[in-house]
Amino acid sequence: MPRPPEYLPFDDRYDPGEPPELAAQRFYEVMRRRRSVRSFSDRPVSRRTIEWLVRAAGSAPSGANKQPWRFVCVQDPELKRRIRRAAEEEERAFYEGRATEEWLKDLEPLGTDPHKPFLEVAPWLIVVFKLAQDDDGGKVYYAEESVGIATGMLLAAAQHAGLATLTHTPSPMRFLGEVLGRPERERAWMLIPVGYPADDCLVPAHAVKRKALEQVMVVDRGGRA
Ligand SMILES: Cc1cc2nc3c(=O)[nH]c(=O)nc-3n(C[C@H](O)[C@H](O)[C@H](O)COP(=O)(O)O)c2cc1C
Repeated sequence: MPRPPEYLPFDDRYDPGEPPELAAQRFYEVMRRRRSVRSFSDRPVSRRTIEWLVRAAGSAPSGANKQPWRFVCVQDPELKRRIRRAAEEEERAFYEGRATEEWLKDLEPLGTDPHKPFLEVAPWLIVVFKLAQDDDGGKVYYAEESVGIATGMLLAAAQHAGLATLTHTPSPMRFLGEVLGRPERERAWMLIPVGYPADDCLVPAHAVKRKALEQVMVVDRGGRA
């Protein structure tokens, strides 16, 4: 006989203390100022701060609550150096051959290239791994979606804390598991430098552009004919 699920009263509800419309706008005002940063300061960020960011990420929903993620937080200069070296190697192969013409053209306005000095300068690199199997050997469900949501929450938490990030995807990313000595069931998913932007940090104008609300949002007619 399967045991019936236990339930708890949902008492610990978040109340923003203001109407949802205002709270939603306030959050947007924080999030709209997030930028992918590729020029970091070496100003330190405490381990405690990183722990809070990872807690926020780990509070994400996930398929069957399997929480199929691991956030490996790197601050050691030697590890960062090895990650930079390996990432730059992959990126050179990408820019010099693996990328399609169209992809390179789409990247042009961002001005990215194979050089990734920020991987050594940023005080922390958070390497997100997707679990292909639970730690106890069990199955995971919708791991891709779950890790995507958790990572989005990590980015939002960093932004909320006044920290900058980059969603870096050197491809293929296998080297991250090797450099960090992670088990086979953990698949490198994203490399996220976290820290403060450099004082002279520039961001590509192209990156600031967003589609208009009408382009991304479709609303029904609210039951009216
Ligand atoms: C899945 C994903 C992969 C990305 N990969 C890279 C990357 O490898 N290198 C990089 O410099 N930026 C990368 N970016 C950042 C995008 O270029 C950036 O989000 C976009 O230009 C919009 O700029 P914004 O983040 O400042 O709003 C990636 C973003 C996402 C969501």
